[in-house]
Amino acid sequence: MSDRDLRLGIVGAGKIGTTIARAAIAAGYDVAVSGSGPAARIALTVDVLAPGARATTTDAVVRHADTIVLAVPTHRFRELPHDQFDGKVLIDAMNYWEPIDGEDDELAAAPHGSSVVVQAHFPAARVVKSLNQLGYHDFEERRRAPGAPHRVAIAAASNDRQALDEVLELIDRLGFDAVDAGDLAAGITLEPDGVAFGAAYSADELASSLRLDPVRF
Ligand SMILES: NC(=O)c1ccc[n+]([C@@H]2O[C@H](COP(=O)([O-])OP(=O)(O)OC[C@H]3O[C@@H](n4cnc5c(N)ncnc54)[C@H](OP(=O)(O)O)[C@@H]3O)[C@@H](O)[C@H]2O)c1
Repeated sequence: MSDRDLRLGIVGAGKIGTTIARAAIAAGYDVAVSGSGPAARIALTVDVLAPGARATTTDAVVRHADTIVLAVPTHRFRELPHDQFDGKVLIDAMNYWEPIDGEDDELAAAPHGSSVVVQAHFPAARVVKSLNQLGYHDFEERRRAPGAPHRVAIAAASNDRQALDEVLELIDRLGFDAVDAGDLAAGITLEPDGVAFGAAYSADELASSLRLDPVRF
């Protein structure tokens, strides 16, 4: 694995973005994080919540890493230009939740889940749905070394096989067993109301719950 592979970008310096940043720093990644404005506006937050990560702009995050976590409020991802993440592995960690995001007709009606809409907005990004399943407290408290007892699993879904494999490896490095959920449309099972959402399952339990999930589209 090259030094470049051990770089991670995170767009969104909020609750889940900084939690993922902490896990990535602990796993040896070189992490850059952005918010919606200049680096100075999130510098203290990043310093306190994810020491070792670098606060920067979204353009600089994109230059920094080939793998980027999108962790902005779901009602705001369309603020980012269509070509912002061209060629990048883009981990969609967002969940559409009406009480927080308001009513979004496109997302509410999306038959194959919100990540398919995200992929349409960023057509040349290699979108992988993942890191969205657990609340940030759970994400923080449940990460464990490989092989540790009671290790929890996180799933990933994508139409890009290579991107999916890279994210499965990242999940393991971040402290979770990784489960291949299938193509991007299967990401709907990881979203609110999906069988895997919020569940602290082992890899076997998660894989079996995904197989048993009735087709929702
Ligand atoms: N909270 C959780 O436990 C959790 C768990 C899994 C998934 N999620 C999902 O992850 C997403 C983020 O949730 P959160 O709870 O972390 O939100 P949050 O605490 O409100 O943080 C959102 C962050 O995104 C930044 N942001 C907003 N618009 C942006 C833009 N256009 N470009 C770059 N950065 C932007 C905000 O920066 P500014 O302050 O500069 O606007 C803020 O740093 C949501 O979709 C949520 O459903 C949350």
